[in-house]
Amino acid sequence: MAINHPSFGKLDDNQIIIFDTTLRDGEQSPGFSMNLHEKLRMAEMLAELGVDVMEAGFPIASPGDFESVRAIAETIKGPVIAGLARSSREDILRAGEALRPAERRRIHSFLSTSPLHMKYKLRMEPEAVLEAIVASVELARNFTDDVEWSAEDGTRTEPDFLCRCVEGAIRAGATTINIPDTVGYALPEDITRIFTMLRERVPGADGVIFSAHNHNDLGLAVANTIAAIRAGVRQVECTINGIGERAGNASLEEIVMAIRTRHDAVPFRNNVKTTSILRTSKLLSTITGFDVQPNKAIVGRNAFAHEAGIHQDGVLKNAATYEIMTPESVGWTKSSLVMGKHSGRAAFRDKLRGLGYTVGDNQLNDAFRRFKEIADRKKVVYDEDIVALVDDEVVRDHERIRFVSLEVQAGSKTPANAVLELEVDGELGSAEATGDGAVDATFNAIREVFPHDANLVLFSVVAVTEGTDAQARTTVRLEENGKMVDGQGADLDTIVSSARAYVHALNKLLVKRQRTEPPEVVSA
Ligand code: KIV
Ligand code: ZN
Repeated sequence: MAINHPSFGKLDDNQIIIFDTTLRDGEQSPGFSMNLHEKLRMAEMLAELGVDVMEAGFPIASPGDFESVRAIAETIKGPVIAGLARSSREDILRAGEALRPAERRRIHSFLSTSPLHMKYKLRMEPEAVLEAIVASVELARNFTDDVEWSAEDGTRTEPDFLCRCVEGAIRAGATTINIPDTVGYALPEDITRIFTMLRERVPGADGVIFSAHNHNDLGLAVANTIAAIRAGVRQVECTINGIGERAGNASLEEIVMAIRTRHDAVPFRNNVKTTSILRTSKLLSTITGFDVQPNKAIVGRNAFAHEAGIHQDGVLKNAATYEIMTPESVGWTKSSLVMGKHSGRAAFRDKLRGLGYTVGDNQLNDAFRRFKEIADRKKVVYDEDIVALVDDEVVRDHERIRFVSLEVQAGSKTPANAVLELEVDGELGSAEATGDGAVDATFNAIREVFPHDANLVLFSVVAVTEGTDAQARTTVRLEENGKMVDGQGADLDTIVSSARAYVHALNKLLVKRQRTEPPEVVSA
């Protein structure tokens, strides 16, 4: 039966709703926090990718979360914007308020239903949980007709009680019912059994969308999600690169490509523009500083690389011998020489458009200036180089501290020496410092220009393309009073890239210092 959904209208039986929670479940995992500007950039990209629902955050969690949900609700057109809320009145009012400007909005309310969570986490009796579910969904319906209810730890919930909770939520007006495998414990057959049971036993089940939200603690999140679809689920919750609590969530790119590649066994459609997958994955890596592992399905750098002679030979004769999907279908392109130092601004803007970027004049000027610097120093400028530098400009926008210049002397004979210039709140500052190597000297110079007590807890460098003249992409993690931030930088020179990453991390720390944290740290 075709469901009439408040946000999507009549839904075809074979339509899968893609619910992305990169900005909520993904963002709340350690080291993955994003500032407002980064969340907005990511939200634009997710809208371009074609997700149907975007969970923008958890408005009650902190003033910063509220502001980002509000900003996304104000600016992003297309997807339904969702905000998470526990079952309390305050949570739901806050979510309703943050989502108010959205074209289409969803309140996503949740409460634990497993014996373990009810007894130890909620300290609530089952009957009280049931009442709270009904009250929260009814309250949420005052703000929007599109209400999702989730049974936290649903896969470890006693079946009869789960049926009663789902029935209560449907009667109270929920239009989507999500059964999360919160701790990543379920096997595919458990998922099949649970959704089949709910669809068969719960009155009103044929009028709502069932949704799966699987965590990856046993590496089964995507397999469980596919099992859920085959058991009648029509919404899947997922994240880019599979980021999320602990071992992460089901990865969007893997689900979408499994549906597309195995259409014979999973005959469903969705609205994701698969050719934008790689760019979305890379943008997330640039913003968070976490690259996916080389063998990551779909978006890892080895996902379409063939090393063994026998495989290379097969692929040259017919790519289908070892490739079950084309690299182009998910956005991989052959690295191409794009432009040289004589290319003009108009050609550069055109190139950016071709790569999917629409940048304002200021960003274009900054990116063009850095492109010229690279083109002067590097023989071959690839698409990947341009993507790295534009993403780098994006994360750098609105910063109080700006990198200006760096000169370093280093080698095996004398201690390294760095002369650095930074702009702090518009004022130029400079310092000279020595250190154990070029990076240490540079970081010491930064500490002289902008004194601070943060500890450096992680430093990593990867090459954007191949060859010794490749751009370096650096991640720096700083810690101050228990607050952790990651900064990123990209440059042809590894030391300059490191300085940019350090400065980026400092800027994030300044934003974090201003944030007043709520008395209770909230996470879901
Ligand atoms: O994993 C989980 O249970 C969740 C819910 C809040 C949906 O993230
Ligand atoms: Zn989750």
